[in-house]
Amino acid sequence: MPFSRIAGTGGYLPPQIVTNQDLERLVDTTDDWIVERTGIRQRHIAKAECASDLALPAAQRALEMAGRRADEVDLIVMGTSTPDLVFPSTACRLQHKLGISQCAALDVNAACSGFVYALSVADSFIRSGTYQCVLVVGSEVMSRLMDWSDRTTCVLFGDGAGAMLLEASTEPGIFSTHIHSDAAYEELLYVSGGVSCAVDPAAQHGAFLRMKGNEVFRFAVNTLGRIVDETLEANGMRREDIDWLVPHQANIRIIQATARKLRLPMENVVLTVERHGNTSSASIPLALDEAVRDGRIRRGDNILMEAFGGGFTWGSALARF
Ligand code: COA
Repeated sequence: MPFSRIAGTGGYLPPQIVTNQDLERLVDTTDDWIVERTGIRQRHIAKAECASDLALPAAQRALEMAGRRADEVDLIVMGTSTPDLVFPSTACRLQHKLGISQCAALDVNAACSGFVYALSVADSFIRSGTYQCVLVVGSEVMSRLMDWSDRTTCVLFGDGAGAMLLEASTEPGIFSTHIHSDAAYEELLYVSGGVSCAVDPAAQHGAFLRMKGNEVFRFAVNTLGRIVDETLEANGMRREDIDWLVPHQANIRIIQATARKLRLPMENVVLTVERHGNTSSASIPLALDEAVRDGRIRRGDNILMEAFGGGFTWGSALARF
């Protein structure tokens, strides 16, 4: 059975930066509060770009690193909860922007766990022998879901895209992926409007992300601790075998709790939350790409990726780079 090997990574952030000081002028908040509670100092915000626009340069960079042409891609899997349109899917629109046709393209919506879910789908297609070259992308324009008068959410999120080019290989690659969901906690984290359903009156004025942050926080810390154990156990590995934690970047305190669980020093945790904020399904591939390009993550290193998000959804992937 073939494995998926990470042949290339890429990332892209829209150029406009919004600092905590900028947000102090918008809502009743302070730089100190945001930094102390979340670790975030700034975030990138898209202007007119949509998710497929951000995804394009990220995908091109991943292809370039892998030494692959776009027309060699068999499948595009896009993690996004801020799609360009309901359909065509954002993956289809990315395919067109890449100048290719024919290959399969689909979106996966698992909120902030979107990239881990997309990776799991991509890995399964490669392991089954169906496809040999798969582009996995996480791209989000979270700023479009923000209620810019709600200080409890608008300070947390940012926009961006990250990509990974997977190819079939006789060696791992991806050791395993683990994905879960539980919708019993919907009221703690949701978007207020959609297409066939609107769950609160605010939906009449647009779709906004709503969150009871402190309750989500507690649930996320416990759940991510459990998934670390599940992932290590599934692979017969010990904590010491992990070289790098590449976590979803929602909050520095959640990340520190997972690192403590792994007994991993923070130098071995890839952090972008300070500069990117929470870019939802883009955050893991953006962080991975940064650490690969600056030489921290090297071939042969073991990487644990994990995420938690609306749904609730959560998941992990263990890989050798
Ligand atoms: N600026 C200043 N004060 C703020 C604020 C802001 N931007 N947002 C909230 N507050 C206030 C609250 O109103 C509350 O005030 P009160 O005590 O007078 O009621 C106080 O700060 C504490 O709020 P609380 O929500 O308990 O803070 P917290 O320590 O839990 O931090 C989060 C809030 C959102 C940063 C944190 O809970 C978090 O990161 N949660 C997880 C979020 C997450 O990961 N979501 C996505 C999953 S992918």
